[in-house]
Amino acid sequence: MTNTASCPFHRSLPGDGTPLEPSPQLSEWRASGPLAPLDYQDGHEGLVAVRYDAATAVLQDPRFSMRPARMPVGPETVGGGTTESSAVPLELPGDLDATAHQSEQLNLLTLDGAEHAKLRRAAAPRFSVRQARSREPWIRAMVAEQIHQLRHRGPVVDLWRDFAMLISARTHCHVIGVPEQNFDTFVELFVEPSTAQQKYDFIRQLLIERKDSPGEDVITDLLANPELNAVEIEGLLRLLMGAGRDSVAYLIATAAVALLTNPSELAQLREDPERVGPAVEEFMRVGAMFVTLFARTALEDVVIDGVTVPAGTSVSASPVAANRDPQHWGADAEEFRVARDAFGHLGFGYGIHGCIGQQVARVEIREAITALLLAFPEVELLSAQQLEPMPFAHPVAVYEAGEVLVRLYRQSEQAHGRTVSAAH
Ligand code: HEM
Repeated sequence: MTNTASCPFHRSLPGDGTPLEPSPQLSEWRASGPLAPLDYQDGHEGLVAVRYDAATAVLQDPRFSMRPARMPVGPETVGGGTTESSAVPLELPGDLDATAHQSEQLNLLTLDGAEHAKLRRAAAPRFSVRQARSREPWIRAMVAEQIHQLRHRGPVVDLWRDFAMLISARTHCHVIGVPEQNFDTFVELFVEPSTAQQKYDFIRQLLIERKDSPGEDVITDLLANPELNAVEIEGLLRLLMGAGRDSVAYLIATAAVALLTNPSELAQLREDPERVGPAVEEFMRVGAMFVTLFARTALEDVVIDGVTVPAGTSVSASPVAANRDPQHWGADAEEFRVARDAFGHLGFGYGIHGCIGQQVARVEIREAITALLLAFPEVELLSAQQLEPMPFAHPVAVYEAGEVLVRLYRQSEQAHGRTVSAAH
């Protein structure tokens, strides 16, 4: 016997939580069922999967579609559904030319089945575990350079802007194949606000420049792929250049805040820096940034954990809620424990749309946190915006890092000139 999910009253996502201490509302929803009713931005009522089993069931079931026609925009911002401006600069408005308009339809996160698989297959090889491992020396050296810069900028720095954002943008360009001389333009267009057309113009110019200079990167693979046309290549690059970069920065900053506010957990990693690698999964579990993922729509009636989701219903899965489900993680699910086996968390999503960049993201987070701890034994947290509730960063309901002020060292310590490369 199954229940049909419906709700007599309206609910928005709670905005009173923080990344490391999500709203108690989420655990109340989890206690009352696998799926909770949720308002969507266009005014209709859908669902959010809050228990681990329900969230993974939705994310791996092809009867839930990603198509935008079936995907109303998700809930937005702090509070009861009002629109507050995001702290992250959003894309500037502007018209698109006809080709760019076609490319916009080819977003991996809005495609299903064979169309999705074709584009994902084209980009996936450069994001494999093996590829991520091969990037380790480059990432380690680049992080060491950032640590060097940080030391000079210190003793007080914003770990998010002065460290995490630089590591993620540099790695992004390295993997995708944006040459060093284009880095500043990349930042202007993809980190600062710009129009979508400006981004496409940049991508097209880059493709012309890179045509005769292949390398070990995504652009080289896409240009060499006989199955792809220009519209598909440009659409894929637009997504890849924008996706994940801020997420990596967010996770580095959030992992640092989690450690600096939990001295006993920090001490464990200081004693055994090799443990930072596996601890990345715990950073991802408790620091998951997606309160909800992109909404899916049921193509037919689907039963999830005893609840019938009627055809046409929008369903978002909540990594933040699922990652703290005591039925899956145990009674201490709310606690941050660096020694926990946290593999299987939903911080990178799950199923065929699960994060394509997760292997390289793991390397970035591990290298950044390892280097930070080794280089600055006395680092202390002064303040972190993310310890207070903030507006969600965009309509899918994503936490953002905000300023993370730390004191890296006491003035006298700098004289020792300890560097991460010496410590490695
Ligand atoms: C810590 C860092 C990251 C986090 C937390 C993260 C999170 C996620 C999540 C949760 C999804 C699934 C969305 C859904 O199912 O609705 C996703 C998908 C995706 N991510 Fe990431 N991501 C990260 C890094 C990256 C990086 C470095 C890239 C590289 C370009 C990237 C590119 C993508 C792409 C292209 C998709 C869509 C995949 C598809 O639909 O097949 N992400 N990411």
